[in-house]
Amino acid sequence: MTENYLGKIVNGDCIEVMKTMEEGSVDLIVTSPPYGVGIDYDVHDDDMVWEEYSKFTQSWMEQAYRVLKDDGRIALNIPYEINRQAKGGRIFMLSEVWQIMKQIGYKFFGVVDLEEESPHRSRTTAWGSWMSPSAPYIYNPKECVILAYKKKHIKIVKGQPEWVGEMGEVEGKDGNMRAKMMYTEQQKREFIDLVFGQWNYFADTKSLTKETFSMDIPVKAIKILTYKNDIVLDPFMGSGTSAVAAETLGRRWLGIELSPNYTEIARKRVNAFIEERKQLELAKRKQYLKSLEKYWGKTLFTNPNKKISIRIK
Ligand SMILES: C[S@@+](CC[C@H](N)C(=O)[O-])C[C@H]1O[C@@H](n2cnc3c(N)ncnc32)[C@H](O)[C@@H]1O
Repeated sequence: MTENYLGKIVNGDCIEVMKTMEEGSVDLIVTSPPYGVGIDYDVHDDDMVWEEYSKFTQSWMEQAYRVLKDDGRIALNIPYEINRQAKGGRIFMLSEVWQIMKQIGYKFFGVVDLEEESPHRSRTTAWGSWMSPSAPYIYNPKECVILAYKKKHIKIVKGQPEWVGEMGEVEGKDGNMRAKMMYTEQQKREFIDLVFGQWNYFADTKSLTKETFSMDIPVKAIKILTYKNDIVLDPFMGSGTSAVAAETLGRRWLGIELSPNYTEIARKRVNAFIEERKQLELAKRKQYLKSLEKYWGKTLFTNPNKKISIRIK
């Protein structure tokens, strides 16, 4: 059951694990699946022929569709194209994967072009024919995020959005003052940037597992596609980036990872993050209690973990 998996990274095959989850229980799936480009993962065979890869995609996508709520969404990070040479030649991945998704029932929400701030791959690979139109090799190493929803484009149950404004007053045309939600320039800029289909990102997890997945991608997708406390699933959790992103943003989350080794790495990473955050909150609380001394005289700081921990004389 989905509820039992919350806040956990389940070690197993995501197709089988998703089968044990409740239908219609997830608000957002954010993930970067294996691309089928022959990466030497710990357990997963990334060297399938394209037909096999396509079947694999179909199977996990069907389960992902089943576990999504009717207004649930998916943010899928894939490359525009890949080259499988003997295993399938050049493949327009965005098109192939979208055809599979469309046939399952996913509805198109948008496509985000990813702009890598410090590209981790060279931009040119092969030129094909040199200085001739005979057979130039035109290759795009960039990636994108397919955004789709299950049945309903508009969220059925409204919650607390990422951006919380403050109630202010503005003068209407009739000269009367009326209440209006006011947002900071930074909040407005962030929202505008997220609805523009081009997200900047920095790939930063290479050292933990065999893949890179930027924290920027799940953070951006979670902010723009979910309310606080919504349930976020990453079926290909790798080093745990989506879990840390969801924790940071106050969403409930669960993850699945095939490799026991990567699962352990991801669990450690998430736990370390939670512990660090706890320590930071404690330090902030200590600081706050200390600052009270200035105004209230002697303050005895006993146990910062306790809700009431000060005695004021
Ligand atoms: C592209 S990586 C994901 C990277 C991840 N987003 C991160 O933050 O590191 C794909 C991951 O999917 C895992 N994987 C492959 N097949 C799987 C399956 N059937 N079920 C669950 N995980 C799988 C691989 O072990 C790998 O860690």
